Amino acid sequence: MNTQDLIKLAIKAKEEMTYAPYSKFRVGACVEMEDGSVYSGGNIEIASYSATNCAERTAIFKAVSEGKRSIVKIAIAADSKDVFPCGICRQVIREFGDNTKIIIANSENDYKTYTIEELLPHSFNKKDLGVSDNV
Ligand code: THU
Repeated sequence: MNTQDLIKLAIKAKEEMTYAPYSKFRVGACVEMEDGSVYSGGNIEIASYSATNCAERTAIFKAVSEGKRSIVKIAIAADSKDVFPCGICRQVIREFGDNTKIIIANSENDYKTYTIEELLPHSFNKKDLGVSDNV
């Protein structure tokens, strides 16, 4: 899928898939997996705040639970500009993508693309545990 269409889905997820009654800060994400499938998700907040799930992880976990393992692109759109994935989400992106394009989107025509190496350099990952990419 082209980047602009993926961003549109991330914005739609922000509008329609979030549950953020506490912060009222909405974030949407959409992942494109290796087989071309796409999964969207929003942030889900819990009254016991630490149980909150970010939009990125919602989208990624939907994909992984459907058997998909490799993220080609992830688009992220939020209620303010230039919102980057949190540290936990960076680690989760690292788990499921070596060459993932991470698209930080303000709108379909205003975005920047990063690699996981830029956002999470010197990461601990499955290679440290001697596990191959094909698990
Ligand atoms: N949040 C995300 O969903 N993704 C991010 O990249 C940053 C933060 C959510 C978590 C919480 O629901 C709200 O934004 C405020 O932290």
